[in-house]
Amino acid sequence: MTEALRWWRSAIVYQIYIRSFADGNGDGIGDIAGLRNRLPYLRRLGVDALWINPWYRSPMRDGGYDVADFRAIDPSFGTLSEAEALIRESHELGLRVLLDLVPNHLSDQHARFLQALSAGPGSPARAWFIFRDGRGQAGAEPPNDWRSNFGGPAWTRVTERDGRPGQWYLHLFAPEQPDLDWTNPRVRNEFSETMRFWFELGVDGFRIDVAHGLAKAEGLPDVGGIVWPPVAGAWVEHPHWDRDEVHEIYREWRALADEYEDPRVFVAEAWVHDSERLARYVRADELHAAFNFDFLLAPWEAEAMRRSIEATLRSHAAVDAVPTWVLSNHDTVREVSRYAREPDPAHPGPLLKLDDVLALPADPALGLRRARAAALLMLALPGGAYIYQGEELGLPEVEDLPDEALQDPGWELSGHSERGRDGCRVPIPWSGTAAPFGFSPRDTNAEPWLPQPAAWRELTVAAQDAEEGSTLELYRRALAIRREHPALGDGELTWLPAPAGALAFTREPGFACIVNMSADDPVPIPRGAVPLIASDPLTHDHRVPPDTAVWVTTAREESRK
Ligand code: NOJ
Ligand code: CA
Repeated sequence: MTEALRWWRSAIVYQIYIRSFADGNGDGIGDIAGLRNRLPYLRRLGVDALWINPWYRSPMRDGGYDVADFRAIDPSFGTLSEAEALIRESHELGLRVLLDLVPNHLSDQHARFLQALSAGPGSPARAWFIFRDGRGQAGAEPPNDWRSNFGGPAWTRVTERDGRPGQWYLHLFAPEQPDLDWTNPRVRNEFSETMRFWFELGVDGFRIDVAHGLAKAEGLPDVGGIVWPPVAGAWVEHPHWDRDEVHEIYREWRALADEYEDPRVFVAEAWVHDSERLARYVRADELHAAFNFDFLLAPWEAEAMRRSIEATLRSHAAVDAVPTWVLSNHDTVREVSRYAREPDPAHPGPLLKLDDVLALPADPALGLRRARAAALLMLALPGGAYIYQGEELGLPEVEDLPDEALQDPGWELSGHSERGRDGCRVPIPWSGTAAPFGFSPRDTNAEPWLPQPAAWRELTVAAQDAEEGSTLELYRRALAIRREHPALGDGELTWLPAPAGALAFTREPGFACIVNMSADDPVPIPRGAVPLIASDPLTHDHRVPPDTAVWVTTAREESRK
């Protein structure tokens, strides 16, 4: 395969949470029209591809991850012909387009589920999903002890056509998201056809939602005392996460993707926490890439980051795959706000959800400084990376959304104990000094679907455009350098000695990255090296202050010139 066809091994992919990116028709909800208007922005930013979160027809009980029709666009986002135009225009600008495939579950409004409900127990229509009789007297207890990711039991009981309480169906997420049964060949076939449908329209690949959840243990045994995620280093067999049987599905998909002359690609969303387990998803005949959430979850601590990077490089090299780095997405607290907190030794564990960070004191300026340094670290590592919309603006998590604005199903399903993920989904500020900050067209009075903080007037694209030192310009320059520099993207890394609290590595030819995460004294750059870009100013003698990263060209390249 030519290098051009292996583009994904070095790609920078920009994540579009379409509801919150740009509103073209003035109803306060982002849409395809808005995205089309902003393609030149993405081109200028310098990314290689877009990943668009689900835009299919959906009742939006879980931000579109409850799909009612995979081959139709939700009317709030536009039409299929607008989607086709978007794909075409992106390609004209040199941007690939990835969509989001949600194979673990459908919406309870999907025709298949409606059919399953009316067809009754034991029918082929029910065999698309995981229906079981209940336990206990008259089947009044759920079939097993599995819990929904959003809180509460993972089972909901249906009323049969005769009006009596009947079977239960499984939903690892909201009750409106019934799980599919992947042992059913009809389910497999349906998804292959859906993929072909979009591939024929020119789509370059899919991000796979809950890629570690499709296979369920035969007999659906109780979870019992199994702890998930497993304690570091100790993999445990779990009845519905990361089961070996999922890989067979991905082999089938890879064969399908490889049928195309310009092969289509997959990236897995698999929360498996162990890099050896993660690497199994990216074996040569399976998926192309898998988000490295271990890196996202690592605290701002040099040793922890280095361990995470090393484990990833090692496990991926063993299967000849490239790592895929990511600092945040639409499910996690934005990194500016995570890094604003020091991990609390009394409550160890990653800062992933809003409730994990809310109790900890925050230093927002420090968070931004670290996030900028983390961006240079990430973009210098071997492999590809994803940028979540707004990351390039240094947007923080919105931590104080009013209760009545919250829309994440987790808020209700947890009985208001978890505030959920809305804080990282607030619409992007483009321009102007007041909400909606150019998110909707000027002549409309639409309110954005989640309120934007007034302080975001400082963070708009317009405010940061051409502004020396802005986070947007940092990303633009870093991406431009990455595009040109032969050492960056796919390849290898060699660690350099560095003082405690710092990371330093070279990439050949002629490149090094130095990150001072917590060393009190500024860290020197290699002898003879020349700074290319720094996340914040270096000392006058070119040393790297705390919470700062720098890219340099090393002496070797200088002497070659
Ligand atoms: C992961 C998605 O990223 C998240 O937003 C969604 O709620 C779940 N999967 C369920 O589809
Ligand atoms: Ca709209």
